[in-house]
Amino acid sequence: MFGKQQPLALQLLGSERSREALEGVAMELEDSLYPLLREVSIGVDPRAVFKDADWALMIGAKPRGPGQERADLLDQNGRIFVDQGKALNEVASPDCKVMVVGNPCNTNALIAMENAPRIPRRNFHALTRLDENRAKCQLALKAGMFYTSVARTAIWGNHSTTQVPDFVNARINGRPAIDVIGDMKWFREDFTPTVATRGGALIKKWGRSSAASTAVSIADAIRSLVVPTPAGDCFSSAVITDGNPYGIAEGIVFSMPCRSKGDGGYEVCDDFIIDDWLRSKIRASEDELLKERDCVGHLIGVEGASCAITVDTTLPGEN
Ligand code: LMR
Repeated sequence: MFGKQQPLALQLLGSERSREALEGVAMELEDSLYPLLREVSIGVDPRAVFKDADWALMIGAKPRGPGQERADLLDQNGRIFVDQGKALNEVASPDCKVMVVGNPCNTNALIAMENAPRIPRRNFHALTRLDENRAKCQLALKAGMFYTSVARTAIWGNHSTTQVPDFVNARINGRPAIDVIGDMKWFREDFTPTVATRGGALIKKWGRSSAASTAVSIADAIRSLVVPTPAGDCFSSAVITDGNPYGIAEGIVFSMPCRSKGDGGYEVCDDFIIDDWLRSKIRASEDELLKERDCVGHLIGVEGASCAITVDTTLPGEN
């Protein structure tokens, strides 16, 4: 993920309840003799585990229980991310990069960010690279080509069923994907929902969340920040919208096409075409994230926000 020369120290955070499992994971890591893995430590106190962390991968979150309202899920997970954000603020490296995977990941990332004012806001990411990889896979299959032919495949918005896989700007072998595939009905009625509901579809098949593809996509997402983005290409990451070039409301964590010089930072690409289809879909995802933000106002220091989620866009991975 960081290149073939970069040794790693892994500091693994668990909870009291998962301590034994964490010890098992550490044993597995030790026994694998990874050539670059120089240290493994475990703990249940984020203030100890996040000490001097350069990268924080926030993999876990509390899954939604049977019959639980989405607002309650946001609140319960939010409280975890308040605590972890504060711990990062206190002890992590001042330029720590944070990748949030646990759902609802965009709003969890926002909560961690708002509780860690010492760390730059732009350093917080929520994982939508898995969605990008899913979109590339579908485009490649439809075009009958290998996935390496597919580029400029952005995911916009929330990592939920309102996410917007962007076929308008995607390229296959350097040509617009729309021209190569030539089937707008497929893009709108098949490709878009297939990508947006892939997590849930996978759970139905094998009874649990995607694991291997998620792990690969986390490594891909981080690698995209530490190697320069090829000219004309992009990678998707949900990042803070402050100052974005697309008129998306500021102050939410929203997936957008990004590019990097390979220094751990990124900029949001400003040359993506937003047609009417994309605009209306992006608005719906933006609206959802603004509502999520209102639901966690009490966790991010916003007074008077009220939680009014009326449509429950089931998160990928939930049944
Ligand atoms: C996914 O997209 O596969 C995940 O978000 C599913 C999950 O665990 O919620």
